[in-house]
Parts: sequence; C-alpha cells; structure tokens
Amino acid sequence: MLFLLLPILLLARDALSCTPLLPRDDNNSTYPFIATGSDEPADLATTGYFINHVGLNTNNLTRSMEFYTRVIGLRHMFTYHVNEYFSVTYMGHSQGGRNGSAYQTTAELLQNKQNSAGLLELLYFNRTTLGGEDIPRSDQKISTLSHLGLIVPDPEATQARLEEYGVPIYKKYGEGLPKEEVEGNPLSLPSLFFGDTSGLSAEVLEEMKDTLGKLNLLNIFAADPDGNTIEILPFHEPSLFG
Ligand SMILES: *[C@@H]1O[C@H](CO)[C@@H](O)[C@H](O)[C@H]1NC(C)=O
Ligand SMILES: *[C@@H]1O[C@H](CO)[C@@H](O)[C@H](O)[C@H]1NC(C)=O
Ligand SMILES: *[C@@H]1O[C@H](CO)[C@@H](O)[C@H](O)[C@H]1NC(C)=O
Ligand SMILES: *[C@@H]1O[C@H](CO)[C@@H](O)[C@H](O)[C@H]1NC(C)=O
Repeated sequence: MLFLLLPILLLARDALSCTPLLPRDDNNSTYPFIATGSDEPADLATTGYFINHVGLNTNNLTRSMEFYTRVIGLRHMFTYHVNEYFSVTYMGHSQGGRNGSAYQTTAELLQNKQNSAGLLELLYFNRTTLGGEDIPRSDQKISTLSHLGLIVPDPEATQARLEEYGVPIYKKYGEGLPKEEVEGNPLSLPSLFFGDTSGLSAEVLEEMKDTLGKLNLLNIFAADPDGNTIEILPFHEPSLFG
C-alpha cells in the first residue's frame, strides 16, 4: 500500500529525499500525510547541477510551436535542422525575471541557454513523406511522463485564455478530479497519476481521487497538442507545509 503515497507526495511538490517511504516514527497510519525531506546537503560533487530542459517528441512541430508560443508564452530560441527529416527546437520563457516580465532578445535567451531552467526541447521527426504512424498521444497511452508543471500569477485568467484558444481542459480551477470516465480524458481514468490501477478496489480509488482532488483544487490540468498534460499552478498557493 505504501507505494500509493508516491503520487500524492509528488503532487505535493515536496522535496522527496531518497528515503524509502516507511511508516512514520509514531506509527500513525492516518493518511494522507506529508513526509518532508531531510536537511542532508547534496553531494558537493553535484554543486551546479540543475534541470535545464524537458524534451518532448512532437507529431506536428508547427502546431506545438504555435501552442507553446501563443498560448503558453514561450519564445522560440532556435531550431537545429539535422536534415529534411529531423529537427530539434528549443523554447523558453524570458528569464530576465522568473515570472517572464523581463524582456530578453533571442540573442540574450541563447546566451543564457546553459543558465536557464524550464526550457522545452521539441524533437520532431517529419514522417509525412515516409508514411508511418504518429507517436501515440501521452494522454491515451500510459507512460512514465506524467505532466509538465507551469506556474501562473492568475490561474482563472489563464483558464479563460485556454478556453479562448480551445485547449482541452481536464480539470478546472476550483473543481475536484472528474468523477465520470470521459473518453480521451486521462484524469477520469486516473492513469495520469496512478498508471494501472487494476486490482485496486473502487472505494480506495475514489478515496485517492478525492484526496488528490482536494490537493489540486486550485490547479488546472490541460493538454498540449500531443496530449502531454500540463498542470497549471497558482504562484500564490496555500502552503501545504504549515
Ligand atoms: C512502530 O512500530 C514498529 C513495528 O511494530 C516498532 O518496532 C516501533 O517501536 C514503533 N515505533 C513507535 C514510536 O511506536
Ligand atoms: C495522526 O495523524 C493525524 C493526521 O495527520 C493527526 O490528526 C493525529 O493527531 C496524529 N496522531 C498522532 C498520535 O500523532
Ligand atoms: C500541422 O499543424 C499546422 C498548424 O496547426 C496545420 O496547419 C497543419 O495542417 C498540420 N500538419 C499536418 C500534417 O497535420
Ligand atoms: C514579476 O517579477 C518582478 C520582479 O521580481 C516583479 O516586480 C513583478 O511584480 C512580478 N510580476 C508578476 C505578475 O508577478
């Protein structure tokens, strides 16, 4: 049962240490609870490491770039055309201010490439002249990529913006997780969080959805054009950590 805590903790955006998820010291088995990380410093040899980008395979580069620029506000940094079949594109929010308020030229974005966090790399294999299948949408096939997380100053304004652009929204601001199974909606299937839940009782599954619904009350879940789920979180959120 304890492994079921993992998604809850991940969603709590808690700094998970490498500690295995063991019963708490007081043997208090009341769920949910949060186990915060230890203050043990990272190995000094890793000083200066940070996550710079996430890479997504994309089926239509134009469509994905339009979405990430127009709707999400990323800037196109560059596209490296390997040949007529394959290209690599970097996108990033202007990071002169972490909230995107400080304008940077493309040259400045490129200059800061190795010093930026939260960049997106779009990998595109153009199979139109070769035939072949699209890569399966990640909201229709369980994979180990769960979602991307985006911070916004005003989630309700962002939600209105998504609606204006016709972006599929799986969970709205202020609502719990959808109860009914809706075709193409991964959250109703909870696969996005849990993967394969066969063998779990309906009651426990409902409880998990309720708990996660409460935890994510102020978050929005939407999809990019390839079905990658985007979690949208308010910059100002009630603290989970007291
Ligand atoms: C918790 O339970 C374990 C195993 O039953 C026991 O060894 C341990 O002493 C308990 N800890 C506390 C703080 O009660
Ligand atoms: C057990 O955990 C619950 C929920 O966090 C808390 O309300 C309760 O006081 C805890 N009990 C003990 C004995 O620590
Ligand atoms: C790719 O997306 C663009 C922009 O949405 C669209 O105009 C174009 O038809 C799409 N190409 C294919 C092959 O579906
Ligand atoms: C963005 O950050 C700047 C600098 O910290 C701050 O002055 C500004 O108010 C912020 N804007 C928003 C929308 O949070």
